[in-house]
Parts: sequence; C-alpha cells; structure tokens
Amino acid sequence: MTHKLLIANWKSHKTLDEAMQWVDDVGSVRHTAHTLVLCPPFPFLVPLGQRIKEKKYAIALGTQDLSPFPAGSYTGAVSVRNLKDLGVTYAIVGHSERRRYFHETIQEVANKVAMAVEENITPILCVEKETIWKQVSALENGLGKKCIVAFEPADHIGSGEPEKLDVVLSIIKEIHEAFGASVPILYGGSIDEKSSLNFLAQSKISGLLVGGASLDAKQFLKL
Ligand code: PGA
Repeated sequence: MTHKLLIANWKSHKTLDEAMQWVDDVGSVRHTAHTLVLCPPFPFLVPLGQRIKEKKYAIALGTQDLSPFPAGSYTGAVSVRNLKDLGVTYAIVGHSERRRYFHETIQEVANKVAMAVEENITPILCVEKETIWKQVSALENGLGKKCIVAFEPADHIGSGEPEKLDVVLSIIKEIHEAFGASVPILYGGSIDEKSSLNFLAQSKISGLLVGGASLDAKQFLKL
C-alpha cells in the first residue's frame, strides 16, 4: 500500500485533557507509512501544536473550518491570519455538516478555499456527488488543482455504513474530470478499521477522512 493521508476530524468532541491524551497515545506510537492529520476544535490547536512540536510527534495539524473573509471585523470568525504561525497546514472546507447546519453556500466555500491557499494551507474540500461541478466552477482559476478533494456522501456520514466501493470509485472518476487528474481524492463516511483496508488498497483513493473512528486513539491507529 502506498503512502496515504489519514485525517482525524474530531468535530466538536473532547475536552482539552482528552485531546492531549490522544495526541500522546497516537504520537508516541511510531506510526505507519501514512501521514496523520489531526483536525481538533479550534481552542485545542495551540496546546496540541505545542505538544506535537515539543515531542516531535509525526502528526500534522489541520482545522475543521476557517473564515471566508480576511482578517477584520467579523466577530466569531477565525481567519487564516489567526492561524498563521500555529503550525496549521491543512483545513477542512465545506464539510456537509457546515453546509447543512451553518448554511454555507458554494460561494462561501470557494472563498474559504481561496483564503487557505493564500496562506499556504492545503484545503481539504469536501464534496458530494451533487456539488462536484457547482463547487469546481465557483473556484477561481487554478484553485481546484490546489485542493485535496474529499468525497463525503452525507447519507453515509455517521451511519455506520460506508458508501459502496464501486460507487466511490465512479464518483472519484467524475471528481478527477472536474478538478483534474492530479488532484488527490479522499473518501469519508463511516470508515472504521474493517472498511479502511479495502478503501486504502485503491490507488485512486489517496486517503481517508475519518470522524467517529478517529476519536479513540487505539481505534485510529488501527486504520
Ligand atoms: P464519520 O464522519 O467517519 O463519523 O462518518 C466522517 C466525516 O464527517 O468526515
């Protein structure tokens, strides 16, 4: 199996103590060939980032969202400028839960991608079958090629049942047509230690975006 990207999306789970423990548990195991990216809630970025640096853990940091606006008068928003110097190298953008519960539009998501790229943060742009072409056409020229795209069918998120592999592969083909053949594509939605093997064995799948199964350090390490 080649080198893959494993993204832990904690959503709004965990206390700071639990978060620190997870980082120690995962970081102290010399992990696999894969790149691990932890996307914790915003308040934990600084303490976790410090711990990762101090202990030289092989864990990259990402955010679960970011502001579509530059630094300025946008109360409650976290701009890319706020993230500068915190060691954040990835940002999940346009997750279906953001689109659904926070009513994010295609254009806002596109603006977030632009913000991330401006600060050299790699956007992990989440799409569903219905949003692929709308989302790519809302991106400014060339931005699509700077994304990692995550195919995340909302019906399969947190459902306990990942989408069927042949369906995922056919959607990946479409995403490559839309974004370009060189764009890495992840799958996310109810991945656990059992289903991960099949997905990671596919050359067209560059990694996994994992919610529920990322919360427990031991379970995450088994992916
Ligand atoms: P899940 O979440 O693994 O719990 O289905 C995936 C996601 O929302 O990114």
